[in-house]
Amino acid sequence: MLPLSSAAVRLVTPIETERLRLRPFHDDGRDVDALLAVLGDERSMRFYPAPFDRDGVGGWIGRQLERYERDGFGLLAIEDRATGEVIGDCGPTVQEADGESFVELGWHVLRARQGQGVATEAGAACRDAAFASLDSWFLISLIRPENRPSRRVAEKLGFEVWRGTIRAGWGHLIYRLDRPA
Ligand SMILES: CC(C)(COP(=O)(O)OP(=O)(O)OC[C@H]1O[C@@H](n2cnc3c(N)ncnc32)[C@H](O)[C@@H]1OP(=O)(O)O)[C@@H](O)C(=O)NCCC(=O)NCCS
Repeated sequence: MLPLSSAAVRLVTPIETERLRLRPFHDDGRDVDALLAVLGDERSMRFYPAPFDRDGVGGWIGRQLERYERDGFGLLAIEDRATGEVIGDCGPTVQEADGESFVELGWHVLRARQGQGVATEAGAACRDAAFASLDSWFLISLIRPENRPSRRVAEKLGFEVWRGTIRAGWGHLIYRLDRPA
């Protein structure tokens, strides 16, 4: 289903919105502190096994850099255009569910900046960029049922619940959004 071997499939970045700039993570470690504030926050990460520590965030950025090379896309840093501050991440990644590969849209926002529409604005731009650049028929978003804020973001972007799955021992909803006709 996925055109992963096609060198032509590459997400065009940066992606700019009214308030945000989404760009690939830097490969020199300069995004680690800002992303640690996002992914290391205990309350934000309550639907994950644990918040990330510094090494975990370094590894996480490394995996996005590998994805950019291998898949042509991965999670992007969300910068506040007004300040240049990194306030989260958002973007498409290849994810497996029940033995099949899909393009998934994901998002994480700095706790101090949550509730301001950042994930919705970034997610809408990534959704549109993914449909414009990638030839996937549809996007998914894997979300734990308890994660009401994330479900709400998916729904505001037009995703609907497709089915359930188990990932890492936990039930997840697979939200799905088909490519517009
Ligand atoms: C999910 C997340 C990215 C949302 O970011 P955000 O920038 O605050 O999202 P937005 O402001 O664009 O929209 C949030 C929506 O969720 C709603 N929401 C927030 N908290 C909620 C709650 N506890 N219950 C129900 N809805 C909630 C908001 O009201 C808003 O919807 P509305 O516009 O209809 O009012 C953010 O909460 C986060 O980073 N969570 C931790 C990481 C995470 O779980 N990522 C997703 C993994 S699947």
